[in-house]
Amino acid sequence: MKIGNSEARATRAPLRLGSDEHRDLFCRTLLSTFNPYKPAVIDWPKLDDDALRRLTSLPIWDIAVQTEEKASRRVQAFANGVTDPLLREAMELNAFEEGRHRHVLANLVSAYGIDLCPQEEYRAPRDIEWAFMVTGFSECVDSFFAFGLFELARRSGLFPGDLVDTFEPVIHEEGRHILFFVNWVEWRRRKLSLLQRLWFDLRIAAVWIYLGWERIGLARDLGDGPAQDNNFTVTGAGSVATNVTLRGLIDVCLAENDRRLGLYDPRLVRPNFIPNLARIVRRFLPVAAPAAA
Ligand SMILES: [Fe+2]
Ligand SMILES: [Fe+2]
Repeated sequence: MKIGNSEARATRAPLRLGSDEHRDLFCRTLLSTFNPYKPAVIDWPKLDDDALRRLTSLPIWDIAVQTEEKASRRVQAFANGVTDPLLREAMELNAFEEGRHRHVLANLVSAYGIDLCPQEEYRAPRDIEWAFMVTGFSECVDSFFAFGLFELARRSGLFPGDLVDTFEPVIHEEGRHILFFVNWVEWRRRKLSLLQRLWFDLRIAAVWIYLGWERIGLARDLGDGPAQDNNFTVTGAGSVATNVTLRGLIDVCLAENDRRLGLYDPRLVRPNFIPNLARIVRRFLPVAAPAAA
């Protein structure tokens, strides 16, 4: 798979954030790393009884399918209003890939006989930019944990390697999406006047507050009904991150985050809010005592 923007990596000319060159680089990075796989031809491996039980009991499938569907529609809705052709092309690809994630998940669910609750009817948001930013920052949170949990799933052997490998393109794409998104945010805010930028920054802060409220609120409601949990990447940790402390989980998430986002041109902005928050939390967590001999 082609990774990164080799042309840009080779030249490494200084990049002014907010410039046309910045826009071209983050759009072309997404477009040039497209993987044309088709969900319909994925050959789902046969699972033994234990692996099948572990997979079907993960409390994430409803919300994961719903989240991908919502992300696809919200990104497409935002792309529809974008006049810049390159930016629009990149956003449309992003929306297409979210829809493809939904197909991958839907195919997995049907291949392994997982029952989904009836999906909520999609309601188009009134504020399309707000919805786009909620989706983008939400992906920054989910991807950070998904990177680490995916690696732990690979190491644990709880799921067959073939099944884990099937999800590699999805996880890889989420890394490209959050890189694209945070660069769009940076590019957009730098094109605004001082007052407009202040308003934009306030909206970003409001999105984070909203996400915190949504996730804490939903976390508190866990156990009150079907698992409609927007913290699904964290909730899934209990099933994948066995024998791993919270500190250990954060270490894997940070390492995988650096590895996956390190593939791209270093001049692009990286999602840093959640990794920095995780580093702060990590400082207060005890180091696990070495196992007794
Ligand atoms: Fe996705
Ligand atoms: Fe995504």
